[in-house]
Amino acid sequence: MKAWQVNEYCEPAEMDFADVPVPKPGKGQILVRNHAVGVNFFDLLFIQGKYQAKPEFPFTPGGETAGVVEALGPGVTEFAVGDRVLANAFSGGYSEYSIARAWCASPIPANMDFATAAGFMIVYQTSYFGLNERGRLQPKEWLLVHAGASGVGVAAIQLGKLMGAHVIATAGSAAKREFCRQQGADHVLDYRAEGWVDQVKELTAGRGADVIYDPVGGEVFELSTKCIAAGGRLLVVGFSSGVIPEIACNRVLLKNMSVVGVFWGRQVEEDHGYLRQTQGRLNELYEQGKIRPVVSKTYPLAEAPLALADIAARRVAGKVALTVD
Ligand SMILES: NC(=O)c1ccc[n+]([C@@H]2O[C@H](COP(=O)([O-])OP(=O)(O)OC[C@H]3O[C@@H](n4cnc5c(N)ncnc54)[C@H](OP(=O)(O)O)[C@@H]3O)[C@@H](O)[C@H]2O)c1
Repeated sequence: MKAWQVNEYCEPAEMDFADVPVPKPGKGQILVRNHAVGVNFFDLLFIQGKYQAKPEFPFTPGGETAGVVEALGPGVTEFAVGDRVLANAFSGGYSEYSIARAWCASPIPANMDFATAAGFMIVYQTSYFGLNERGRLQPKEWLLVHAGASGVGVAAIQLGKLMGAHVIATAGSAAKREFCRQQGADHVLDYRAEGWVDQVKELTAGRGADVIYDPVGGEVFELSTKCIAAGGRLLVVGFSSGVIPEIACNRVLLKNMSVVGVFWGRQVEEDHGYLRQTQGRLNELYEQGKIRPVVSKTYPLAEAPLALADIAARRVAGKVALTVD
């Protein structure tokens, strides 16, 4: 089969599109014949050696796929060959076949195509976990979603609205801000221009945002501490700016605020049932038309470096997926 391989940390264009054997599922695992592969920002970090987990070389990047179960490892009873599944592959996704642990896989809703399914699990589960469990977002609270047009941002806008919050989204271009409105944001702001902190205060009548969802880090995180409400929860989701911020603890004290980590991968490793249960809930919301994952572009598997270049250059709104013939 064809699979992208990283032999040493590199840029996406330097990966090898190699011929490798189809892997065999071990105990508790399934082999998935991929029809589509989700592309996530953290795939870039894996390839460049900037992610906190570092797989052994050579490795195939790609944390999520959607396809059809091709074979079952010993002990797998919840799936049958031929089932349509979406799966958190952790790595190994950028390939024609990939292995997933059975507890990391879930049925695809009947009316969802493979490209949408491949980018559904990670961003929606992360935002669901962030807003419910970690942020404890309440109806009528103000939610500020940074990088609202990102994969995780779109999910946070849609889920935040569903939870009854007033949603402000930030994004770096006019087209992305319009896209955020289409996802349900009540207000949109340009966080690459000065003044967005004051605009958040104005929109919230001086109070600030109760929950701030931050996948960007750097200066955006730092400035967020100036427009968070007393008692607010600042959710640390990621660092797409490339800068891991630090915080002055006097601000934490003065605002009675909480800085809250959101690491979905850790949550599901420690509670396997959480992934299945949350995916069941998300599948239901999708089937009821209450959430709408957006795939803005697909690329053939062979063009994975182009997809990653678009992500790195901030050219993507919503999700992109790789398709496998
Ligand atoms: N904590 C978790 O469990 C978890 C799970 C999934 C993802 N994440 C993290 O969440 C972040 C977003 O992931 P994603 O897959 O949703 O990303 P994505 O769709 O590629 O979007 C990332 C967005 O970040 C913004 N951005 C700001 N500065 C940037 C820069 N210097 N370079 C590139 N983008 C920049 C861009 O929006 P604008 O152009 O509008 O500024 C871009 O659209 C990543 O850091 C990822 O690792 C965390």
